Amino acid sequence: MTELLTDDEKGICRAADLLRCGKLVAFGTETVYGLGADASDASAVAAIYAAKNRPAFNPLISHFPDAHSAFRHVIPSPQALKLAECFWPGPLTLVLPVSPDNLICDLARAGLSTAAVRVPSLPTVQMLLRQTNRPIAAPSANPSGGISPSTAEHVMKGLNGRIAAVLDTGPCDVGLESTIIDLSGEQPRLLRAGGISVEKIVAAIGPVLMGDENAETSAPIAPGQLSSHYAPDLPIRLNATSVGPKEALLAFGLPLKGSPLVWNLSETESLEEAASRLFSGLHHLDHEGHKEELQGIAVQPIPKHGLGLAIHDRLSRAAAPRPKMVP
Ligand code: TXA
Ligand code: MG
Repeated sequence: MTELLTDDEKGICRAADLLRCGKLVAFGTETVYGLGADASDASAVAAIYAAKNRPAFNPLISHFPDAHSAFRHVIPSPQALKLAECFWPGPLTLVLPVSPDNLICDLARAGLSTAAVRVPSLPTVQMLLRQTNRPIAAPSANPSGGISPSTAEHVMKGLNGRIAAVLDTGPCDVGLESTIIDLSGEQPRLLRAGGISVEKIVAAIGPVLMGDENAETSAPIAPGQLSSHYAPDLPIRLNATSVGPKEALLAFGLPLKGSPLVWNLSETESLEEAASRLFSGLHHLDHEGHKEELQGIAVQPIPKHGLGLAIHDRLSRAAAPRPKMVP
């Protein structure tokens, strides 16, 4: 059963406790209802994907009560400071390089070295975020492919029984997701149009590249299609039923014998655990595999149901042929 919590001190305390225990809690923001989880806890983040039945791991936005707490986890550029001053709290998300001691887990960042951060303006959510005192990842609180929810009722309709609680903060004002600006490259780039117009952003920091300019390097606006998604250097071989001495092994369940370097996604064959360990595993095998002069990463078969579908999506992107680097 999903608890329906009211927008008062007791409700906020309960929601914060649940989040701190790794549970999923939906809450309203000024844009849409978000499905929140502790972004520093990979299992909690994996549970978001499972509850939404998402077939792919998109990087998620982490939410903070104020700019100061957000900038603990990412490195702000002068333009980020300017945008934060003009539009936070509010419907604007900034993508920035992560700081060395950031707490946002690999799965919430889809393995990237950048993170998306946002400070929502709804006072109840600010109280919730302050009490939780963790970065809170929150995509829209609807099953994958559904319409973004703007009331607690919408959330219940889609996710009742699949999440711990909904904090009813009333209907959302904006009803449209936040604008996302990527400030991690040489020039600011619009990744998603949203609650704050591009004109206002341009007035604050000057020209902004649009998502589809310079197609080679740009990130398409469609979520999850980002060309900058982390792919390991070592080639990936899927559905391996044997492994050689020059290959690292990404195992699932009982590991194959013969590899000098193994990362087991889940000994008990739990797809949620596997999802929560996927990106850290790829980073680990890539990094250590290079040091040990291995030639590739073999991946054991993983079932395609539940989170297995998102794991396959991610691995097949990582295994796809890559464009050669031009020297
Ligand atoms: O209004 C909103 O932003 C709502 C409410 C709940 O706050 N949240 C929301 O979150 O829409 P989400 O997690 O669905 O947005 C994820 C999108 C990704 O699909 C991607 O486009 C972008 O944010 N994103 C997140 N991290 C990124 C990163 N490191 N680099 C590039 N894009 C990123
Ligand atoms: Mg969404």
